[in-house]
Amino acid sequence: MTVLKELEVALEARSYQIEIGTGLLEQCGEKIAPLVKGRQAAVVTDSNVGPLYSAMVQKSLEQQGFVVTVVTIPAGESSKSWQQAEQILTVLLEHRFHRDSCVIALGGGVVGDLAGFVASVYQRGIAFVQIPTSLLAQVDSSVGGKVAVNHALGKNMIGAFYQPRLVLIDLDTLQTLEQRHWQNGLAEVVKYGVIYDAEFFRYLQQHTAAILQRDLQAAAEIIANCCRLKAEVVALDEREGGVRAKLNYGHTIGHGLELAGHYQGYLHGEAVAVGMVLAARYAAQKGMCDAEVETEVAALLRQFMLPTKADAALALTEVMDSMMLDKKVQDGKLVFILPEALGRVKIIKDVSQEEIAALLQKEFEV
Ligand code: GLY
Repeated sequence: MTVLKELEVALEARSYQIEIGTGLLEQCGEKIAPLVKGRQAAVVTDSNVGPLYSAMVQKSLEQQGFVVTVVTIPAGESSKSWQQAEQILTVLLEHRFHRDSCVIALGGGVVGDLAGFVASVYQRGIAFVQIPTSLLAQVDSSVGGKVAVNHALGKNMIGAFYQPRLVLIDLDTLQTLEQRHWQNGLAEVVKYGVIYDAEFFRYLQQHTAAILQRDLQAAAEIIANCCRLKAEVVALDEREGGVRAKLNYGHTIGHGLELAGHYQGYLHGEAVAVGMVLAARYAAQKGMCDAEVETEVAALLRQFMLPTKADAALALTEVMDSMMLDKKVQDGKLVFILPEALGRVKIIKDVSQEEIAALLQKEFEV
């Protein structure tokens, strides 16, 4: 086992470590045992990740005296549902999980959000550990305590802010990640460069080949930088009363595209990629930034083989309706995160629906 980077999410009594390294899955029991009181653990995983890694995690936990129940859900966004959460809660009840038991999320963003949600409501909250295995979960969703399930009327609509006790990022798991899911995570990586760190954006531009090849050093570098930025933001604004909203760059249109496609078209990062390009274009149209910002963001996303244009098969009205159902609508007004320059964004709370519809309309026409 090698721990390459260690970071803290500083939230006073709820502070926790993010460990990034290799061979961490085999040692997860040792790391989790001191952080939880009981010795009953549910490992929530999915049908892709479970067969690869759950036995390793189970063994490591059992070596520390844990009694382990593995719960495997079908892979995919459709599992992030109320019904799936209820099924997991039933398993915990059947196995007599109690207040000192814990839930361990082993998988990507869907598993982490769902397992965290279950942990947050089971007996009013039990301990929870994130072991993210996708790039998207490692750089974003496993850190910061946003846990949720989707509702037919909106993404992440039923959820909580509920921090994990530990985030264990084992870079070895990236070797088995499908290429499309690697690229999907890179969209969120690019996002950090645009919103907070122009130097990081330049680093990404200069290391595209190593990043696409999943070079270990490059992967460790980008994951650690994203986690550092996220940890700083979450420590400042855990419940998204202010600056944390900047992490939603690309997500207003992105969530609209995802929901309009019934989660069958774009992966989350792919939809966010399109959303980031369109938000940059809108910002330039409003005179907030140079057109060059969109050009650079789109070029980098294309190098990472991500979409930069909305899928013309989607219906404009459905995308607009989906967007208006999102949490990024306040008092009927769309909230957008718009770039002022690379590395700097602003939260704009009264974006015109008509202007966004016109922007999307053009996408669908071409
Ligand atoms: N994914 C955005 C956030 O955690 O705030």
